[in-house]
Amino acid sequence: MADPQLLLRQRFAEALERIDPSLAGADPVIRPSQHADFQVNSAMALGKRLGRNPRELADQLLAEVELAGIASQLEVAGPGFINVTLDDAYLAGCLADLRDPRRGVPAAEPAERVVIDYSAPNVAKEMHVGHLRSTVIGDALARTLGFLGNEIIRHNHLGDWGTPFGMLIEHLLDLGEQEAATELSVGDLNGFYKQARTKFDGDEAFADRARARVVALQAGDVETLRLWRLLVDQSELYFSSIYDRMGVTLTDTDYRGESAYNELLDGVVDELRAKGLLVTDDGAECVFPEGFVGREGEPLPLIVRKRDGGYGYAATDLAAIRFRMLDLDATWLLYVVGAPQSEHLEMVFAVARMAGWLEPPARAEHVAFGSVLGDDGKIFRTRSGETVKLADLIDEAIGRAAEVVATKSPHLDATEQAEVAEAVGVGAIKYADLSSDRVNDYVFDWDRMLSLQGNTAPYLQYAHARARSIFRKADLEPPTADQPVAVTITHAAERELTKQLVAFAGAVASVADGMRPHRLCTYLFDLAQTYTAFYEQCPVLRADDEAVRASRLDLCDLTAGVLAQGLDLLGIEAPERI
Ligand code: ARG
Repeated sequence: MADPQLLLRQRFAEALERIDPSLAGADPVIRPSQHADFQVNSAMALGKRLGRNPRELADQLLAEVELAGIASQLEVAGPGFINVTLDDAYLAGCLADLRDPRRGVPAAEPAERVVIDYSAPNVAKEMHVGHLRSTVIGDALARTLGFLGNEIIRHNHLGDWGTPFGMLIEHLLDLGEQEAATELSVGDLNGFYKQARTKFDGDEAFADRARARVVALQAGDVETLRLWRLLVDQSELYFSSIYDRMGVTLTDTDYRGESAYNELLDGVVDELRAKGLLVTDDGAECVFPEGFVGREGEPLPLIVRKRDGGYGYAATDLAAIRFRMLDLDATWLLYVVGAPQSEHLEMVFAVARMAGWLEPPARAEHVAFGSVLGDDGKIFRTRSGETVKLADLIDEAIGRAAEVVATKSPHLDATEQAEVAEAVGVGAIKYADLSSDRVNDYVFDWDRMLSLQGNTAPYLQYAHARARSIFRKADLEPPTADQPVAVTITHAAERELTKQLVAFAGAVASVADGMRPHRLCTYLFDLAQTYTAFYEQCPVLRADDEAVRASRLDLCDLTAGVLAQGLDLLGIEAPERI
């Protein structure tokens, strides 16, 4: 096993079970420690549980645990901590599989089929920064959970249906199809939407036409559907161009908009009725899941069918969850959606459970996130108060990154500078989003995200390129994947770097535990810093001893490999040369 922390957890769990069978399944708490490599602090809580003196239990645990050849030193400290110092040779040996394509990361057992609902912008409307967050976080999770060995189904739950389409189609007709298509394809989605809205609010005749159009759309009128499809297609083209530029793994086959569920809605209502879950409330058909109440403590309905017989957002989400569970046989559903939709999603999950569609161990999770703020602490907008256009944001990021690259990397030719600027600019936006705990708001700050100092994408990208450059400087081919790792620890800084490298598997796994990509960011930042310290203290190419030089070159190569792999899981490129 590449990650010693995982091995320790396993060995201590086995020892606990041998001490007392009632402790089977206990998950020992093991943390990196300042006093040793790791500290095990299970004896206090478990001692209490067994009615035993924790220090005595710790002594017994220390005698029982099998760590020959793994730990060089074990001691009980304080009220019952166990300090573990790893054996140097064992630690270096943990690097053995860090060069293979999985980088020592064990595959999930059992692999799950995960549907990740993310991005999900709305047709003929600009993606806002909330969609940016959903896209960036969702893509990092799709990549990471996939790398962990799960089967990932990406669902882009596009907002492509509903009453606004009446006015959007009429506006399209007013403009002429050609003109409308051009406007949408250059990405002036907001302009298009706003013009339609203005006419709808100010022009009676237009509003009447729009309402009639909604009726025609719902009735499946062929010409209306053709016009609707045009809007959807143009918007998808635009969204796909953004995904492309951002290196997002969503493809055209991942679009599965709200309209994809239209045919299933009647069946959903019938089934809920047959299961006795539907209540008619003020003419609307609703389900009242337990535990959801409004301001005055009144039970909250999930409206499945409105008074006018129409279906809304909730009905579509019910059909979608049923489809994902029963037709796609998913075991795990993730919804990467802003925090304000939490109640809606929790109610959908609750109703799905009531209907028997979502049976444990299958589960659904709302991967919520906070807002993006401007430097005034308010929701991030352009200076004139408009929604920020993602295309503009990407342009600006790349433009600003180009300035950084021009000053920092004058040795690169123009083409290469442009490529690096793209990787750095897009990487900076993504990393700024991913590196703080997603549930928090964060402030969008160009200077900070593009800084070469601190927990930023450029810092990591430069660290990666520096580690790679050593091989170029010495005119050496970097080791190939099948070349055995030959690290021997001769210096404290090598030991620290080794420890950090072998913690990669744990860092990747920790993302899946609670859907927290920022943990991987923190890990990579620590790795880059540990590498810098190593590089300052340990000459690599100028090492006196041939074996030491080879060992240090291996550490550089593994650091570069792990940094690149980690960044890739976050959806960020790591150029070879910067
Ligand atoms: N289109 C929605 C919005 O822009 C997000 C959809 C989220 N996914 C879902 N299954 N409800 O707010």
